[in-house]
Amino acid sequence: MDITIQFAYVVAAALFIFGLKQLGSPATARRGNMISSFGMLLAIVAALLDQGIVDYQWIVIGIIIGGGIGATVARMVEMTSMPEMVALFNGFGGMASLLVGMAAIAPDSATFTLVTIVLSILIGGVTFTGSLVAYGKLSERISSAPVLFAKQQVVNGLIVAGIVISGLLFANNPDTGFWLFLVVVLSLAFGIMVVIPIGGADMPVVISLLNSYSGLAACAAGFAVDNNILIVAGSLVGASGIILTQIMCKAMNRSLSNVLFSGFGSGVVETAEVEGEIKPISVDDAYYVLEAASSVAIIPGYGMAVAQAQHVVKELMELLEENGCEVNFGIHPVAGRMPGHMNVLLAEADVPYDQLLEMDDINPRMETVDVAIVIGANDVVNPAARENEGSPIYGMPVINVDQARTVFVLKRSMASGFAGIENPLFYKENTRMLFGDAKESIGGLIREFS
Ligand code: TAP
Repeated sequence: MDITIQFAYVVAAALFIFGLKQLGSPATARRGNMISSFGMLLAIVAALLDQGIVDYQWIVIGIIIGGGIGATVARMVEMTSMPEMVALFNGFGGMASLLVGMAAIAPDSATFTLVTIVLSILIGGVTFTGSLVAYGKLSERISSAPVLFAKQQVVNGLIVAGIVISGLLFANNPDTGFWLFLVVVLSLAFGIMVVIPIGGADMPVVISLLNSYSGLAACAAGFAVDNNILIVAGSLVGASGIILTQIMCKAMNRSLSNVLFSGFGSGVVETAEVEGEIKPISVDDAYYVLEAASSVAIIPGYGMAVAQAQHVVKELMELLEENGCEVNFGIHPVAGRMPGHMNVLLAEADVPYDQLLEMDDINPRMETVDVAIVIGANDVVNPAARENEGSPIYGMPVINVDQARTVFVLKRSMASGFAGIENPLFYKENTRMLFGDAKESIGGLIREFS
């Protein structure tokens, strides 16, 4: 039996890896998801049949309560609140590893097991409270401003020293509950301390990092309960989370240490004055310009998600193409509020994948584009990132829509985007502001075309 279970674990691990590989391209992502899910089903069935760990009654109760809450919340959540939801998932994953670690304590545990128990409690605890703070900041239940105070690093250092010392004392004397209790409390406190200094605009990176931590916590818990598939699954989540973190840091032109310790936006003050004037345009006039255009680049952002404008965007794309115009989409890696946000929405509207160009592919073409249509994007097209050294987003790679011949910006007002900063694009000579809800403005353009 044991050999069959271990074999099932190997097959499940292979399915995870194969599924992950397929997630690398939008064309194969759905299949990849199915393959990984099947791997997880196999892993769960094998774990349930693994002798000595099964109490079906509690497992069924857990599935009903947990599955019920998960399914209800997932149905209710708005697409725009997905990052908050992911933050909570990570946090509960961390808490689960913490609890598994605690449950694995046995009077005759080997030192190695005790060390992995401390690690699963430490990483799980940090992930849990860190994710709750990230959730609070993203959902604006607490201030998203970085919280920095004097001697913060010293306090953090003391907490870490406390965790290491109480962890060692626990491993030396596992019967004394006090040291374990101290590890739990200090780990939970450390999770809060590591996330409060980080500003709201950096939360996506933090969530991705916490996702990686939740994997590492599961991996440590896997060692604690001696379960191979938990070790493999935890390592995969840990590794893919850190890769995504790295990709996002690169997209924002920041190092991970800068994200974690600099308190984005806390000390930087915008310096350059914005020059120029706002030039609004009506739907009628915008139509005449688009009607004459032979190449159009559409740059979607968070506002397209808010307006749920992806289907009308697709309709506009088709009308432009029927009119002999070449249409491409420019996708910034952190447009919207979660990795791949724009790709998901445009895929839902059946926009062909090969028309979605990444920032590095669309930028070199921008000077040849007749009209760049910015739909509810703001920070990811802000030229201050290139031009204004005093800007908090200076150095972040952006889509250079200002280099197109004409730029239409579709938004409701002059309000700023997520980073809360002024955007000089709106004042440029070649920019026209099409004010209004993106779905309604595009609907107006479609009516003109038809
Ligand atoms: P933002 O800079 O947040 O700008 C969105 C714009 O959409 C706003 O200026 C808003 O202006 C407009 N808008 C909102 N609702 C609209 C509607 N119904 N119709 C038309 N426009 C609407 O978005 P972005 O350019 O996509 O940049 C993303 C930002 O979020 C970056 O700063 C990024 O770091 C951050 N972030 C990214 C992620 C990931 S991983 N993608 C996660 C969290 C945060 P009005 O109010 O005037 O309409």
